[in-house]
Amino acid sequence: MNPIRIGKTTLKISPLAYGCWRIAGGWEARKVTAKAREAGVKALLAAQEAGYTLFDLADIYCEGVSEELMGLALKQSKALKKSAVIATKCGIRVPESNEPFRYDLSADYIVQSCEKSLQRIGINCIDIYQLHRPDWLMDPAEVAKAFAKLKKAGKVKHFGVSNFNPSQVSCLQSALKEPLVVNQIEASLMHLDPFENGTLDQCLERGITPMAWSPLAGGFLGNGKKSVLPSQEKYKPAKVRRRLDLMARDFGVSRGAVALAWLMRHPAGIIPIVGSTQPERIRELAAATELQLSHEQWYALLTSALKEDLP
Ligand SMILES: NC(=O)c1ccc[n+]([C@@H]2O[C@H](COP(=O)([O-])OP(=O)(O)OC[C@H]3O[C@@H](n4cnc5c(N)ncnc54)[C@H](OP(=O)(O)O)[C@@H]3O)[C@@H](O)[C@H]2O)c1
Repeated sequence: MNPIRIGKTTLKISPLAYGCWRIAGGWEARKVTAKAREAGVKALLAAQEAGYTLFDLADIYCEGVSEELMGLALKQSKALKKSAVIATKCGIRVPESNEPFRYDLSADYIVQSCEKSLQRIGINCIDIYQLHRPDWLMDPAEVAKAFAKLKKAGKVKHFGVSNFNPSQVSCLQSALKEPLVVNQIEASLMHLDPFENGTLDQCLERGITPMAWSPLAGGFLGNGKKSVLPSQEKYKPAKVRRRLDLMARDFGVSRGAVALAWLMRHPAGIIPIVGSTQPERIRELAAATELQLSHEQWYALLTSALKEDLP
């Protein structure tokens, strides 16, 4: 895969990211078997071999196990250690006892979370540290304090956000010394909001790289079992899948590869985050980087996804 730059930085990454949410096979650390750990590491190594260099993690993915597996894979593969650009996230607090489920972007929590992620991954510095979701009580000055501390200590190279709307990005950015480099958002032919709500416009305007999570709508746009979040259950993919299949046949690639190429055609430079745990699919989806959809093909897919005709 030909490397591209992330945000306005000099950091080079693959145009597809590999997402590590599912690599341990579930949400709960205590349920992860040795076999599941082995499969997780295998998926990471397959991604490296297929040319992915950007790896997306979060502290909450399987309660830290995804980060640990990344650490194991880095120890096993010199090639991965050399090429991997590590992105991880903090800010979602899963209750430990009677506390509520919550978001927490207070300075102390960001700094502590980052230190724990570094330990689990076994590295000294995170390339891109993202705030997972906007905290309803977010104080930009607090976040700026945490970012400055982490940057000064050499623990983070660049910062980004996830699931932030444009005004939340602007508000936070106004307190920061450095530009936010990514906004990670749900985007796919089943979830078009960022194309219309100003998110991608803001990315273009500010040079922020949009990263698309669930680019295959959790499997709805794949051809195997789907594994979706509750908010994705409502998706109705039949028409889009038919249109994708026609194009996939013409291009000689999979349906999923066309769905990723559709995202990548947008001028904001969307990086789809591939979430499959199966080496064969991880390899096969890399074909998306070779496809260039025409304006006409792009609209043919868009219109198959819209509930109503364009006015
Ligand atoms: N920032 C956030 O809030 C947020 C939220 C969600 C996700 N993410 C990130 O985005 C990444 C991707 O999300 P996602 O896993 O929902 O992405 P996705 O690519 O939309 O969905 C992947 C799921 O689809 C299944 N699938 C079925 N058929 C497939 C096919 N032909 N090709 C590929 N996959 C197929 C996969 O199963 P198999 O494993 O069996 O292939 C897997 O369960 C995550 O790993 C995480 O890094 C971020």
